[in-house]
Amino acid sequence: MNILSRLCKTIAASALFVSLFASLSAHAQSGNDALYQSLGGKTGISTFVNSFVAIVLDDARINKAFKETDTERLASLLTEQFCELSGGPCKYSGRSMADVHKDMEVTNAHFNALAEDLQIAMEKHDVPSSVQNRLIAKLAPMQRPIVTK
Ligand code: HEM
Repeated sequence: MNILSRLCKTIAASALFVSLFASLSAHAQSGNDALYQSLGGKTGISTFVNSFVAIVLDDARINKAFKETDTERLASLLTEQFCELSGGPCKYSGRSMADVHKDMEVTNAHFNALAEDLQIAMEKHDVPSSVQNRLIAKLAPMQRPIVTK
């Protein structure tokens, strides 16, 4: 093997190593956004969240709690929260779940009613049920800080 071909092989191997490393570190930085992508990204999330808020406001089991609420702001915070929870590039800027809900005397029945409304909204926008379940599973740990009664 002459020196030139040896040099070419070394350069090719280094280039392969560099590109492999670059793609691995890009993946590590982007994290796992599979759920976010399955939900249709920020646009998909904000679309079903708008329906979700409308369904909640029409749900006699829980709508009294929202009579003083700025519902546009609520929809935008929920979109941010679901975007972040699903691995998307958002940062939730609202209050903590415990702080927001602390004086509302939320029961398990209220919590389940709201989760059901979210599922109805996702169903309406053709989110597959396996994807719905993955988002609902991310919300389950919030039951503890939200339910106080
Ligand atoms: C998984 C369940 C829930 C999630 C993820 C959730 C999330 C949120 C978020 C992100 C906000 C906005 C926070 C902010 O204003 O800084 C909010 C506000 C609110 N939540 Fe919840 N929530 C849940 C369950 C419930 C339940 C069961 C009720 C009562 C039936 C409820 C009643 C409210 C009300 C009334 C507000 C508005 C407060 C205001 O106007 O200042 N939430 N919630």
